[in-house]
Amino acid sequence: MPREIINLQVGQCGNQVGSEFWRKLCQEHGIAKDGRLEDFATLGGDRKDVFFYQADDEQYIPRAILLDLEPRVINGIQTSDLRNLFNPENIFISKEGGGAGNNWASGYTQGEAVQETLLDMIDREAEYCDSLEGFNMCHSIAGGTGSGMGSYMLELLSDRYSKKLIQTYSVFPNQSESSDVVVQPYNSLLTLKRLTLHADAVVVLDNTALDKIAVERLHLHKPDVQQINSLIATVMAASTTTLRYPGYMNNDLVGLVASLIPTPRCHFLMTGYTPLTAENAAGQVTSNIRKTTVLDVMRRLLQPKNIMVSTHTKSRDMSSAKYISILNIIQGEVDPSQVHKSLQRIRERRQANFIEWGPASIQVALSKKSPYVQTAHRVSGLMLANHTSIRHLFAKVLRDYEKLMGPKQRQAFLQAYKEVPRFADGGGTVLLEEFHDAKEVVTELASEYAACESADYVSSQGRGAGNGSSRMCPVYLCA
Ligand code: GTP
Repeated sequence: MPREIINLQVGQCGNQVGSEFWRKLCQEHGIAKDGRLEDFATLGGDRKDVFFYQADDEQYIPRAILLDLEPRVINGIQTSDLRNLFNPENIFISKEGGGAGNNWASGYTQGEAVQETLLDMIDREAEYCDSLEGFNMCHSIAGGTGSGMGSYMLELLSDRYSKKLIQTYSVFPNQSESSDVVVQPYNSLLTLKRLTLHADAVVVLDNTALDKIAVERLHLHKPDVQQINSLIATVMAASTTTLRYPGYMNNDLVGLVASLIPTPRCHFLMTGYTPLTAENAAGQVTSNIRKTTVLDVMRRLLQPKNIMVSTHTKSRDMSSAKYISILNIIQGEVDPSQVHKSLQRIRERRQANFIEWGPASIQVALSKKSPYVQTAHRVSGLMLANHTSIRHLFAKVLRDYEKLMGPKQRQAFLQAYKEVPRFADGGGTVLLEEFHDAKEVVTELASEYAACESADYVSSQGRGAGNGSSRMCPVYLCA
């Protein structure tokens, strides 16, 4: 029985990233852009039904829900090559049409106001599933819709579907772009609270690091949004490959996530991918990497320059940072004995600094590549890692928030938030309480990641590995 996953895409970024993801999935499963099966797609062995279902006329339809508060991006999708792919009933564009204006409070309230419509869509989609495993949500944490409406969706889903897994692909803003939204820290902080409390796993995709990877690794002079989104889609597709090309293990999302998250709150994952090529960034450049072996791929995955999160940390601050867990998904024709040897070499060279209170080993899942997509390399790999240095990203959000909110700036740019009726009570007290609460949750999250670096984390917290966490699962090697 398939373990279906419904993909929600919220706001501009969510819908743009989501479109690239669906393009990639269609390619990998031999599905044309209008949902028909390509004539050449006769090999089977894949599970299209995890992310698609078939209509009466056999057309494949994505289990996707597209949400936005302004029409531009979704209208663009509806006039693009993907115009016949999505179920029109699963598209929601607000009648107001004005977006959320980079205002989390506006996005949240507009989402709340149409909750019945949203639930109808989600419930209908869930009924099409035999055994719904959970939800993926793509969004950005910095604008108004992906962050505010996305936050509301997380609350709604965790309330209505409390037994289902909720995973997000969350895009963090580019810190080096001064033109980006000034109120990003407000929106990011309020969204981080929901990601902490209502998601089971958050794959952090950081525009700062993605941009750097595109420039330095792929030699793109000025990477455009589509190229960055293509990188993100590569990660999303690779992270679901064991579900779509199942072997005898790693066939469900819960299993994958559980192996990475031994302590429920610390569920923010970094990613790395290698080898990156033009195929991954939809550009013209070719990769420098000529030969790929399992050992090369695993080594490269551990190099900080391949990690798609920039933690804004000086190397001296990194010395205490540790891996809580690592899962490498290796795609291609691989002999399992190579995996054993590679793991041994990496262990001998102490290439990964792990926490002291966990299993301290790299988990490996092997997966097939799509037979319909030609790639230049024999082996490729995705790393999903839970690493304590992620706390520096949260600390940065907190610092940036304090800069705007603090005594010097005197709650800069807060007026628009205070004017949203739901948060206006008490002259904005409700809003300030909301911020206070979010700050506390994110501060605690950063502290918990810091505590994970200490050898006595489990005894000091009274929880964690093997102690009260239903999500802990043994380390395994999939052949
Ligand atoms: P409103 O525009 O306020 O209604 O909210 P929104 O959620 O639609 O905004 P958006 O998704 O544009 O969020 C802004 C943040 O997302 C900024 O940090 C942008 O750099 C980033 N962003 C926007 N579109 C994309 C995209 O397609 N890809 C990536 N990687 N980042 C994006």
